[in-house]
Amino acid sequence: MLQRTGTGKGKTVLVAGGAGFVGSHLCDALLARGDRVICVDSYITGSKDNIRPLMNHPGFRLIEKDICEFNSIDEPLDQVYNLACAASPPQYQADPVHTMMTCVAGTGNLLALAERDGASFLQASTSEVYGDPAEHPQREDYRGNVNCIGPRACYDEGKRAAEALCFDMLRAGRADVRVARIFNTYGPRMQPDDGRIISNLLVQAISGKPLTIYGTGEQTRSFCYVSDLVTGLMALMDVDPNPGVPINLGNPGEFTINELADMVVAIAPTMAEVAYKPLPADDPQRRRPDILRAKEFLGWEPKVPLSEGLRHTADWFIATLGSDAEKPLRRQAVRQASAYEIGVRA
Ligand SMILES: NC(=O)c1ccc[n+]([C@@H]2O[C@H](COP(=O)([O-])OP(=O)(O)OC[C@H]3O[C@@H](n4cnc5c(N)ncnc54)[C@H](O)[C@@H]3O)[C@@H](O)[C@H]2O)c1
Repeated sequence: MLQRTGTGKGKTVLVAGGAGFVGSHLCDALLARGDRVICVDSYITGSKDNIRPLMNHPGFRLIEKDICEFNSIDEPLDQVYNLACAASPPQYQADPVHTMMTCVAGTGNLLALAERDGASFLQASTSEVYGDPAEHPQREDYRGNVNCIGPRACYDEGKRAAEALCFDMLRAGRADVRVARIFNTYGPRMQPDDGRIISNLLVQAISGKPLTIYGTGEQTRSFCYVSDLVTGLMALMDVDPNPGVPINLGNPGEFTINELADMVVAIAPTMAEVAYKPLPADDPQRRRPDILRAKEFLGWEPKVPLSEGLRHTADWFIATLGSDAEKPLRRQAVRQASAYEIGVRA
C-alpha cells in the first residue's frame, strides 16, 4: 500500500470515466467539497469539453488512459468511482467486445487498485441488469430478464459480470465495494448525438427536425436529473457501514415516451412531426426503480421534477449547439474505436 502524504483535508478520489456526462458532474461535486480528483478517461464517448473548466484546478489531475490498460498509479487512493463505460446503445454496440472488456477487465484493474490502497470502490451499474423486466417496479432482489446473446448483451451482461466481480471482491474481504444500479439519467453535458432518448428528442425539437420515437411510444422510462444522481452516488460511497447490497438510484416517476415527447415540445416548441421507427431488439417495455433501499440506507431520494430538469437541459443544448443546431451534428454518433483485440492487453 502506498504511503498517504496528504494533509488530511479531503480525500484522494479516482473517477474513471470522469470526462463523461455523469462523471464530469461528479468531478465537479467532489472538487467543490474539497477532495482531490484524479480523472481517468480514454474519451471514447466522453469529451474534454466536459472537464475543461477543471483543468487548472489545483486539486484536479487528468490521466488519458483506457481502464483495460490502467493498472498502476503513483499516489494512494481513498475512493475509486468506476463510471468508465459507453452508456447508450449505439455507443456501447459500436465495439461490443471493447464494451464487455471495459466492464470486466477494466473493472478488475480498478478493483485491484482499490484493494492495493484499502480504498472504497463504487461501481456504476445499471438498470439494464434487469433487462426487459418481468417485475414492475424493479427492486434490487429481482434477478432480471436479460438476453445473454443479443446485441445489448455486451453492456447488460458486461455490467452483470462486473457486479459479480465486485461482490466476489467484497465477500472475499479484498475491497470495500458498493454498487449503484443507475436508471436513465439526463442533464447538461449529454452528447447531442449520443442516441439517448432525451438528448435525441431535445436536439431534434431545437433544430426543427422530426422527433424520432421507437415503437408505439407507449413504453415507459423513469428519468433522473444528473444532480440528484451525483448526490446519490456520493451518499452511497460515503455511507457507513457499507450496505453490502446493490442500490437502485433513479427517479421513480414513470412516463411513456409519448408523454416525454409532449413535454419536450412544450419546452422547445417545434412544428416538426413525430417519426415512428421500429423498436430495437430487446428494448425494455417498462422501467421504474423501486428506491426503498436508497431511502433506507442513504436517506436519498431525487428532488428535481422532470419538467424542471428538461428545461435546464434544453437551455444547455440551446447554448451549446447555438447556430450549429441547423447544421449536421458535429460529432459522429459513434466514434468507431478500432475493434478491441482480446489478448493484446499488457
Ligand atoms: N446516464 C445514464 O442514464 C446511465 C444509466 C445507467 C448506468 N449508467 C452508467 O454510468 C456511467 C456513466 O455514464 P454516462 O452517462 O456518463 O456515459 P458517458 O459515455 O458520458 O461516460 C462514460 C465515460 O467513460 C469513458 N470510458 C468508456 N470506456 C472507457 C474505457 N475503457 N477506459 C476509459 N474510459 C472509458 C468515456 O470516454 C466517457 O467519458 C457508465 O458506466 C454507465 O454505464 C449511466
